[in-house]
Amino acid sequence: MCGIVGYIGKNNDPRLGLEALKRLEYRGYDSAGMAVYDAKKKRIVSLRAVGRISELEKKFYEHPFEGMPFIFHTRWATHGEPSVKNAHPHFDCTKTISVAHNGIIENYQTLKEHLQKEGHVFHSDTDTEVLAHLIESLYKNSLEKAVHKALGMVRGTYGLAVLSSREPDKIIAARLSSPLLIGVGKGEHIIASDASAVLAHTKDVVYMQDGDIAVITPDSFSITTKNYEARNPAVEQLEWNLEAAQKGGYPHFMLKEIFEQPDAIENSLRGRILAQDGKAKLGGLEVVKEKLRDIEKVHIIACGTASYAASVGEYMLEEYAGIPTEVDFASEFRYRKPLLNSRTAVLAVSQSGETADTLAALREAREKGAMTLGIVNVVGSTIARETDAGVYNHAGPEIGVASTKAFTSQLAVLALLTLFLGRQRGMSVVIGKRIANELALIPGHMREILKQDAAIKKIAAKYRNAQNALYIGRKYNFPIALEGALKLKEISYIHAEGYASGEMKHGPIALIDDKFPTIAIAPEDSVYEKMLSNIQEIKARKGKIIAVTTMGNTKISALADDVIYIPKTLEMLTPLLSVLPLQLLAYHIGVLNGRDVDKPRNLAKSVTVE
Ligand code: M6R
Repeated sequence: MCGIVGYIGKNNDPRLGLEALKRLEYRGYDSAGMAVYDAKKKRIVSLRAVGRISELEKKFYEHPFEGMPFIFHTRWATHGEPSVKNAHPHFDCTKTISVAHNGIIENYQTLKEHLQKEGHVFHSDTDTEVLAHLIESLYKNSLEKAVHKALGMVRGTYGLAVLSSREPDKIIAARLSSPLLIGVGKGEHIIASDASAVLAHTKDVVYMQDGDIAVITPDSFSITTKNYEARNPAVEQLEWNLEAAQKGGYPHFMLKEIFEQPDAIENSLRGRILAQDGKAKLGGLEVVKEKLRDIEKVHIIACGTASYAASVGEYMLEEYAGIPTEVDFASEFRYRKPLLNSRTAVLAVSQSGETADTLAALREAREKGAMTLGIVNVVGSTIARETDAGVYNHAGPEIGVASTKAFTSQLAVLALLTLFLGRQRGMSVVIGKRIANELALIPGHMREILKQDAAIKKIAAKYRNAQNALYIGRKYNFPIALEGALKLKEISYIHAEGYASGEMKHGPIALIDDKFPTIAIAPEDSVYEKMLSNIQEIKARKGKIIAVTTMGNTKISALADDVIYIPKTLEMLTPLLSVLPLQLLAYHIGVLNGRDVDKPRNLAKSVTVE
């Protein structure tokens, strides 16, 4: 998500920056830009373009120029739509300070208002521009000190590169929860969001740590912590090739994205949980906040994996917010004449924000006078633009065709929405606090589950030759059974079905024999006893059972052939955890069977046709 490149050294050709930036394309972006110090003119020259890096390149080649140091950026929009004015690098008022930033400045609004009162004029809708003006306002005679002070005032996350025509002999770089490394060359340094951008120049790198602020010149770099304590990290040798580097060392994007989930959820929740009040703060819903109080029904529309997130949302909203909720596949909604009015909120859930069926259903709902809302990952996408209000996932770009981190971030946002609407409708502070606190613990719980990857891989090896598989769950975990089955189908091409456990005896149990594995999602929740009975029924027919249950539940091993554990959480949040083992299981079976897991046959990442 977003990419930074910065260069200082013997090379005066900004094309070096363009080439390095292209190595970061895989991270996902919607605009790109560059800021280059022109020593002859003694000023920073910048170019920015919407769309691919090739658009930026085109602009550059219309009037190529030389210069150094330079900073480059690919932006994946979070605050403000993808546009030239929102593309990085951003400037201060005098255009002497230029910043490229990855991450989110949570308190940017307060800082912006303060800076505007001081007379600073802003030109973009981004949170990042605040950094340029803040550094300007704090600048005395040292860029390094001004950056230090500015970062002491911001709340949020950053990978940051700062260039100033007042001190063109250096680049300042900083990191907090957004990766940045320094490539160490002979008489040159190149900073980047990840190793893929520096590999063509050097294999010697220094990984910046959270809180680091670096001063980088052609021949040296120094790193201090926020408190000016010197840090002397070792220079490490990269062992990756380029392709591996782009996947962060993971063999596939899907696995990388599965492992990114704790961070993705942290990003989805960042600044949105008001733990003290037991409330959720959703800035994107402010414009419709009052109208939402009068809504009598929520109708969620989505496709594929997003529709299963929607189904979990239905359970959440009905149980905790007390709002009648209905979920439809967008492709069905369009043709079944749903009954809507101005007191219905139609909520589109979509990672891409471009899915044709979801978009068409949304337009249909708007025609019928419903309020339209969105939960969308890609900022500025069509669904995001066409809804009355909405919430972004902030999960970062998802490249693997199989949705993983987008799904769990949709669940996290739906939980926030439940909290938001619930507290408007009489949910008690105690319950609100409980949900808020448990939600905040989810990323840590996810990290615990991911530690079981090697054990899950062994289970995958055991069942990789199965011809069919059944996934069963109840209540909140019924949609997870559907999602688990979809993951296995699309990644391994093994036939799988998801079922509500209670439906087993009405038909599917006829399939069970000793070759038929069932994945039973059975956390210790309000329907656990019922799930146990269903598992018994399968066991009685010699079916193989892989159980996903709560940590500490050792009794289930008497029934199940294999057990995967998830930490205890609130029942409504269990889907955020129980789906992780299912993603890993599908992934490993797919890989063991030689499938192209990142690009399964016949599938597209964004389905823009009906
Ligand atoms: O971009 P969207 O969330 O609207 O996409 C919806 C589905 O096409 C998508 O979730 C699809 O089912 C995935 N391949 C599932 O892994």
